[in-house]
Amino acid sequence: MDKGELDVDGAVDRILRHAGKVRVDDLNWNDAANVGLSDDEVFIVSYFADVESQTLANLKTLLAMRGALEPEMAAFLTTWSYEEYFHGHAFARLLRACGCVVPDSQVLDCHQSASVKERLERVLMPLASYVFAREFPAVYMTFGAIHELTTLRGYERLGESTKNPVLKELSARIAKQERRHFAFYFNQAQRSLAKNRRARWLTRLLLRYYFAPVGAGLKGNQTCLKLYQSLFPGALGTALCAEVDGRIRRLPGLSDLAPMTEFFTTQRASKRLARLPAGHRLRSRIGQGADAR
Ligand SMILES: [Fe+2]
Ligand SMILES: [Fe+2]
Repeated sequence: MDKGELDVDGAVDRILRHAGKVRVDDLNWNDAANVGLSDDEVFIVSYFADVESQTLANLKTLLAMRGALEPEMAAFLTTWSYEEYFHGHAFARLLRACGCVVPDSQVLDCHQSASVKERLERVLMPLASYVFAREFPAVYMTFGAIHELTTLRGYERLGESTKNPVLKELSARIAKQERRHFAFYFNQAQRSLAKNRRARWLTRLLLRYYFAPVGAGLKGNQTCLKLYQSLFPGALGTALCAEVDGRIRRLPGLSDLAPMTEFFTTQRASKRLARLPAGHRLRSRIGQGADAR
């Protein structure tokens, strides 16, 4: 299959057949240390190591959701969390090999330093899955599909741009697993949205007013923006957003949404605003209010 192609059929089968931790014992870690990582790469790999390591903590929330123990979901969540955990583990090993300090308590540290929004989600998500029992799977799967696809493209880009041979190989191996994760999420989102009008309504609403890309809840919106600008500078970032939004618009009921583009446009505007002196900031806000009217 070409790199750009994403097959969404038979996703669960493939996940069960191919599930496993990403292999790292055959990689030459001395080469990794000799070549090292650039400052940008340290930032990017640390971001991903933190986010990947939180899958285990997220699993706690997900297992409290209604429907989590249905056969298909149980099979997926088990293998998915296993694989994601080892993505974080492998990135932490690479950082250590290149001289960075990664505490053994990384999973716990990240969990405890999560934003208020992230903490609220941990409480509200299981609750929402009971209140909107029929609709919630579509929401979760659609958000998950966006996160998996952006992560996948992120690792592909990291693999293409790095000079570090271990990071290159690791990115390729992890991307292969992310491709299967995306296929599962996308397929499930398609099914759940197609059969339920209220699910389409709820998913649209949350994508419009509540969406943030992978890691933003944990690391903050501006750190997330910095990650995407480091990995996908200039036109590459625009193309990534267009691709992910285009994919999501193929899902039932979501044909006019652009959550990635909207998120990054808003965050770039906030960053520009934050750089202005206080007086200019106020005038700019008043100006925006007048424009809005
Ligand atoms: Fe991952
Ligand atoms: Fe994944």
